[in-house]
Amino acid sequence: MAVYFQYIEIEPFAPEKEKRLRSLINRAFKILGRPSKGLTLIFTDNKTISLYNTKYLKRPYPTNVIAFPSSEKNYLGDIMISLEKASEEATLYGVNHEKYLLILIFHGFLHLYGYDHEKGLYSPWLMLKNEIKLAKALGYGENEVMNFLKRREYMPAKLAVNVDHVATVREARKTYYPDPVHAAVLAELGGADGIVVHLRLDRRHIKERDVRIIREIIKTKLILEMAIDKDLIKFAKEVKPYQVTLVPERVEEVTTEGGMELEGRVEEVKKVVKELNKVGIKVSLFVNPDEKTLELAKKTGAQIVELHTGMYADAEEEEKKWQEFERLERAAHLAKELGFIVHAGHGLNYENIGPVAAIPEIEEFSIGHSIVSRAIMIGMKEAVKEMKELILRARG
Ligand code: PXP
Repeated sequence: MAVYFQYIEIEPFAPEKEKRLRSLINRAFKILGRPSKGLTLIFTDNKTISLYNTKYLKRPYPTNVIAFPSSEKNYLGDIMISLEKASEEATLYGVNHEKYLLILIFHGFLHLYGYDHEKGLYSPWLMLKNEIKLAKALGYGENEVMNFLKRREYMPAKLAVNVDHVATVREARKTYYPDPVHAAVLAELGGADGIVVHLRLDRRHIKERDVRIIREIIKTKLILEMAIDKDLIKFAKEVKPYQVTLVPERVEEVTTEGGMELEGRVEEVKKVVKELNKVGIKVSLFVNPDEKTLELAKKTGAQIVELHTGMYADAEEEEKKWQEFERLERAAHLAKELGFIVHAGHGLNYENIGPVAAIPEIEEFSIGHSIVSRAIMIGMKEAVKEMKELILRARG
């Protein structure tokens, strides 16, 4: 069956390359045990795929591949691929460009057959299983592309929920509710993989009591964010959270403003890392996504880095946002290469999480303000209903 090639805003492939790709697609139909159907491969650049991604999927950024299924009997649909993005990613993952392109074609191909990694709990796994099946059958051994695929398979990203701002609401009235301890339990019930609290130097929201109780009752891990401070280090050693995330802190700031400045501080940080590690606490450094900082971070002996996503989240102009996004992608890759466990956080919300959540090296996201804000809104209707009932019932 015909495999058509179309090119938008880019130079066409040489005829031999088209022939090679066409024959591999036809083999893919056989491997999957599907009848051969017509399809079109559309190759383009980042700008064009971004227009389609915005128009059809409401995602205003360049992606690697989009599949447009067809309802015609003998026509499977169209697969649009940004060659620019494909080649950026192949370079980033250090894999052969043509093999990577094929993986993207298979990915689109499986989408056309109704596999969807964005829907349902098991769909990403099923999709990947078929991608691996295809790659293996087409002769990819234990090579770089297989390793790349496997890395994706074994690295589902986790979510650590920061409950600081539940305490912020409590402290607005200096009362005992809402309790961040309750929020931590509910977050776990919702699927949180960890609970984060920032015990600030001025104790403006979270208090020692909160940290102690949360440590006692949660079943996942407790992550304590804190500045380097003698008393806080003593407290951490006593409470023993799973992980301490070291952050810079200024008393007058509204929230953490930037990553840790490590220039000239490696020895000081290294000492703290060692002290905390000695009692079994893992240490993460909250850092800006740049090469120099990551290299200095490596010298401190910290096990984890949390990449600061604030610049990406706060960027107002699209161009700046994508520049920041690419900075995060590069930093995540470098951090992984340096041997860090890679986390990310700050300013992430329901609108901007998509692209960063797709960066394969990032294993965990630390999100607070947007989740607490959403919880208020989702719960508002019920909360008012309950109060109204109490008022109405009081007078019979
Ligand atoms: N990561 C770190 C290091 C932070 O300091 C914060 C804010 O406390 C977060 C993540 C969470 O940021 P947000 O509340 O914007 O989701």
